Amino acid sequence: MTYKVTADDLKRVIEKTEFDNGHFFHHGKVRDSFVLDAKRRAIVVSDRVSAFDFVLGTIPFKGQVLNQLAAWWFKQLETLGVPHHLISVPHPNVSEVRNVTPLPIEIIVRAYLTGTTTTSSWYAYQHNEKRISGLEMPTGMKKNEIFPEPIITPTTKPEIGHDRNISREEIIEEGLVSSEIYAQVETLALKMFAHGQVVAAKQGLILVDTKYEMGLSAEGGLVVIDEVHTPDSSRYWIAETYQDKLEKEDEPDSLDKEFVRRMVVNAGYDVDNEDQNPKDFMTDEIRVEAAQKYLELFERMTGEPLNLEKNDDSQGVIQEALKNL
Ligand SMILES: Nc1ncnc2c1ncn2[C@@H]1O[C@H](COP(=O)(O)OP(=O)(O)O)[C@@H](O)[C@H]1O
Ligand SMILES: [Mg+2]
Repeated sequence: MTYKVTADDLKRVIEKTEFDNGHFFHHGKVRDSFVLDAKRRAIVVSDRVSAFDFVLGTIPFKGQVLNQLAAWWFKQLETLGVPHHLISVPHPNVSEVRNVTPLPIEIIVRAYLTGTTTTSSWYAYQHNEKRISGLEMPTGMKKNEIFPEPIITPTTKPEIGHDRNISREEIIEEGLVSSEIYAQVETLALKMFAHGQVVAAKQGLILVDTKYEMGLSAEGGLVVIDEVHTPDSSRYWIAETYQDKLEKEDEPDSLDKEFVRRMVVNAGYDVDNEDQNPKDFMTDEIRVEAAQKYLELFERMTGEPLNLEKNDDSQGVIQEALKNL
């Protein structure tokens, strides 16, 4: 039985972790990362949730669900011989990883014409003459329809500001990634995606699209970093109802972070109203409900029960785990 989340669990959230080991640290939107030595980093996946380009607040247990899901997927990748950054998971929220130099791009693979934001394929289909990241999408497609084959639409990864779509040619011309490495990036991305689709299908899910990050090791080899195929980096639909929803022109049933966006919108947030901040719509009720969804999602995706950590001193235990690395 999946654990029943209550308002009491809100006190257990992991908002932010500090670790003073005198080395470089970085607080991203979701992850806090600490350089351990030249070769290793510790990444603490917090319970922060980001959507609409804002950190909306925290959702109990979200960090451990994401960290464990990423670890589960990294393990799956080993059967494919894809080099990844994960060394160990010393605590449900913590990953010990190889420290590499991230490529300055994000690699998005899309199997379906969909999305809501201005970088989505559906937006490009309507507003940019069916062109995305230098690729031309087929004519006559409906929203949420499958592409003849998955497409790769990279984006930039700016330190500040919004991502923008970029083409293969621009990436190489601008010297962001060499053409040799970029060819390897594409091969790896498609290989991982095809495998992810097969694994998802076994669970009755459709892997719709996903984002990969890769880096270069000191030896110059490509390594998959960050997270793979998690509900924060990917879009998943329920296979069983997909066809029916497509025919009725309804939105497919989803199993990813989309439910957080929908809850916030249902609570009154208007994406087009710049005077509003989606944070103001994240009620405790939504946080508890979203936590429950994340727990269920782990089990649905992996077919395995989640070993949930409910500790009243999570920060203390995390500090211990970090010190031991
Ligand atoms: N193995 C790794 N080596 C170096 N950097 C990494 C590694 N894995 C992830 N990162 C970086 O750590 C950050 C993760 O934090 P996150 O909260 O996702 O940040 P962001 O706000 O940039 O999305 C990202 O910038 C990611 O590129
Ligand atoms: Mg990120």
